[in-house]
Amino acid sequence: MKRLIYLSRCRPTLKDETLYDLLAQARQSNRDNGLTGLFIHQDSLCLQVIEGEEGAVRDCFSRIRRDWRHDACQVVFHDSVPDRLFPGWPLVYRAGRDLERSQVRQLADIVECAERLAKRPTDADRWAMEVYLRALLDSFSSLAVQ
Ligand SMILES: Cc1cc2nc3c(=O)[nH]c(=O)nc-3n(C[C@H](O)[C@H](O)[C@H](O)COP(=O)(O)O)c2cc1C
Repeated sequence: MKRLIYLSRCRPTLKDETLYDLLAQARQSNRDNGLTGLFIHQDSLCLQVIEGEEGAVRDCFSRIRRDWRHDACQVVFHDSVPDRLFPGWPLVYRAGRDLERSQVRQLADIVECAERLAKRPTDADRWAMEVYLRALLDSFSSLAVQ
């Protein structure tokens, strides 16, 4: 089981109907491919978690990273994991306005840390990224109870 988490910047056109169409298609495709995950869209920022079998995650992300509706994809986590965080959820969606204040702060920490890692990777920031991601993902742990 693999989990991949990336950040990207959406085009301004990716909102409302376009976004709901994208989510409907992505959920169908993720269901077909045994994938689950989370998609957060706050202003122009996207954070997506994709989890599933290695090949399915790889194929899905290679389609996603070529998609013109966003750019600047940066993988911030990609590793083997024992369990899914979003079992039974082909793609949970959260808009920025749905996030709790603590989640907004965690997201800002993740983005700042990703910027530092892109410029000059250090062990301290790699470790900090793990801590920030864990805090954000823990805040969705109620979704893991199915
Ligand atoms: C931010 C973002 C997230 C996406 N998430 C998924 C996803 O979880 N699963 C998926 O199949 N497609 C997702 N897509 C759509 C894919 O990029 C792609 O358009 C779709 O899989 C169809 O690919 P194809 O035209 O090569 O068959 C996402 C696109 C964007 C812009």
